Amino acid sequence: MEIDRKAFRSLTSGLYIISSIDADGRLCGCVVNTLLQVASDPAQLLVSINKQNATAEAVSTSKRFCASVLSQDTTMDLIGTFGFKSSKDIDKFSEFDHSVCESGLPRLTHDTLATFEVRVDSTVDVGTHLVFIGTVEDAEVVGEGTPITYDYYHRVLRGKTPKKAASYNDGDDPAKDEIVEIEETASSEQKVAWRCRMCGYTVEGYPDGLPEDWRCPMCGVGRDYFEKVLI
Ligand SMILES: Cc1cc2nc3c(=O)[nH]c(=O)nc-3n(C[C@H](O)[C@H](O)[C@H](O)COP(=O)(O)O)c2cc1C
Repeated sequence: MEIDRKAFRSLTSGLYIISSIDADGRLCGCVVNTLLQVASDPAQLLVSINKQNATAEAVSTSKRFCASVLSQDTTMDLIGTFGFKSSKDIDKFSEFDHSVCESGLPRLTHDTLATFEVRVDSTVDVGTHLVFIGTVEDAEVVGEGTPITYDYYHRVLRGKTPKKAASYNDGDDPAKDEIVEIEETASSEQKVAWRCRMCGYTVEGYPDGLPEDWRCPMCGVGRDYFEKVLI
């Protein structure tokens, strides 16, 4: 029987940053939507991270991770940096508020409502991903607001999920998205902009179209992934 991939969209979750430190002392972190509380006494969390992600390697070696709960006001800039780029290529934390825990782990506090520090007790290899299950050693409320949901990210922010995410499904392929038609009767105050259908990055201007060699500064895709919008 064929699986209807759209069914997975009705599973609910939030968006989080998982952070850790690798064997070379590099700070690593990535967006996940697979953080889950699995027990309360002692409090335990699990997270599923793709083996190819730098963060998976860091959690495997340090046996610890921090989790930051992102708020609904989180910018696409933060999601683009942590969700579409590799910690091996850039220092993701340099642009965003964070602190370093006593254990040396980075802990993102930017656009964050709460943080957890977790010691990994067991790791389950599920093929493409490693599932880390651990005990919460510290938990803190660091901000007020509404946590962002995966549904809000897709439906309202029109964000995308990269292939390496545990919850990537065919329906997320931007090439299959409809092109959004813009209103021809735009008011004179509205400006033309181009929005990346991969990560949501928006650039103002270029009324005649983006240059041929255009690359999204956030996630790196070409101009074919950009749609014209009015802001
Ligand atoms: C909305 C969203 C959800 C994601 N969920 C996961 C996830 O649950 N597990 C995972 O391994 N990657 C997930 N990703 C992808 C990683 O964040 C992405 O591959 C990141 O660039 C890895 O960075 P790193 O190599 O520095 O660890 C998600 C990305 C986005 C944008």
